[in-house]
Amino acid sequence: MPAQRPEVLAHRPLSLAGRLVTWYACATVALAIAASLILYQGLSRELRQATDNQLLERIELLRALLQKETFAHGELKWEVESEWEWLEHHEIFLRILDGRRNVFLETKGLAPLLPVGLFPAPAGREAPLRSLRIDSPSGRVFQAMAAEVPGPGGGWVIQAAFDLANEGRVLREFKLLLAFVVGGAMFASLGFGYQITRNGLRPLAEIVETTRRIRSSTLSERIHLPNLPPELASLEDNFNDMLGRLEESFARLSRFSADIAHELRTPLNNLRGEAEVALSRPRTPEEHRDILVSSLEEYAGLARTVERLLFIAQAEQSTPIQREQVDVCAELKGVVDFYEPALTEKRLDLHVSGCVGSLCLDADRELFRRAVSNLVENALAFTQDGGSIGLGVEQRNGTIRVQVRDTGIGIAPEHLPYVFDRLYRVQRTRTKGSGGVGLGLSIVKAVMDLHGGSVEIASDLGTGTSVTLVFPNLTKS
Ligand SMILES: Nc1ncnc2c1ncn2[C@@H]1O[C@H](COP(=O)(O)OP(=O)(O)OP(=O)(O)O)[C@@H](O)[C@H]1O
Ligand SMILES: [Mg+2]
Repeated sequence: MPAQRPEVLAHRPLSLAGRLVTWYACATVALAIAASLILYQGLSRELRQATDNQLLERIELLRALLQKETFAHGELKWEVESEWEWLEHHEIFLRILDGRRNVFLETKGLAPLLPVGLFPAPAGREAPLRSLRIDSPSGRVFQAMAAEVPGPGGGWVIQAAFDLANEGRVLREFKLLLAFVVGGAMFASLGFGYQITRNGLRPLAEIVETTRRIRSSTLSERIHLPNLPPELASLEDNFNDMLGRLEESFARLSRFSADIAHELRTPLNNLRGEAEVALSRPRTPEEHRDILVSSLEEYAGLARTVERLLFIAQAEQSTPIQREQVDVCAELKGVVDFYEPALTEKRLDLHVSGCVGSLCLDADRELFRRAVSNLVENALAFTQDGGSIGLGVEQRNGTIRVQVRDTGIGIAPEHLPYVFDRLYRVQRTRTKGSGGVGLGLSIVKAVMDLHGGSVEIASDLGTGTSVTLVFPNLTKS
């Protein structure tokens, strides 16, 4: 296998399946991340709210006890100190400061964790209580609240704190779970995406496989895959249409190659035969002269064929033409004059119609003459003595139409689609010096293509033929 060029390797694009799977996985992961963030935010808000509620509940309880008519020292001590004593890892810590802001009661272990000064300033009696997140010097994090309660001196201050270690653990575990979910979603979407894409692209792979089998020798093959999705069904149709056109072009091309070989072989064989005859025995100068004259005819025929083939080949490359104002009627009259002797000889009647006033065409004069002459030559060649030929011109739907009609032998319908092909003739037999080579109508078509126009042909076998040159009307006459 030949080594691939490095730049080809470097810029090798990602396969369609690869792209789809990647997009699918990216979309799934993005969705999973977005959903996880929303869930995480929701959970942490809920936990914070639940913590606040617990702190508020405690503060309200202590506030009620502090404001009791008979001071309930025992109950307060139980609520602040004793209730938590037997719990090894309790979360709620409480402290009551007296009027001089000295510690009156506090939960065991609170002093080293959260000194009095770390708490937020107590909210006024009417103000709503707000919690604050506090980093303890011990490294633990608390959610804390402080509230004022009327009392002796400056009144009481209740400080309440909630250890967030548990909440932090819950959130960390939840985060881990979400990371697993996102990771799982990514792998699952890669797997599912691969399967879905593979199934979805299978018909495409089948089309590719079928097209791979098609060679120039098997252009008659068509793709016929059952149950194709509509997008691919239209691709199949278009591809089959394209194959049809290619097959047609190939057939025309190979017919042309065979025809050109045949056309050149006949005159070359004639020339060779004449040379062999000339050399077969000693000849007089007059005999040599006659042979050379005869050969000259073949040379001229060959040169004309080659020149016309070259003209068509150049026209197909869209060579620029020299446009000028061409008086259509004057040109038609010129052509008629040129063929007058041949018309008379065949006793053909020729009339020109549509020439009232002057009708100008933006065209290449030489090419226009050549096209019309070719049509008149055909009419002359394929119309029996005593028949008639008509030249006509008319302006219709923004076009100028030049028509050559005859009452000749006509063309059978099966030949009509091919008469504009190079070297195509209905009557294939040709004797030396008689008949054309089948390039006249190809030249007409090439001329019309160069002018951006078209050529139409209609014919009835035994009745006659009419060929119309349709020029886009670029000139207002
Ligand atoms: N007016 C017509 N009447 C009947 N048959 C025609 C007419 N014009 C063309 N044809 C058929 O179409 C074929 C192709 O025409 P075309 O002008 O291309 O070639 P040609 O006349 O045979 O040769 P060339 O024009 O090269 O001398 C002709 O061989 C003839 O069979
Ligand atoms: Mg011809």
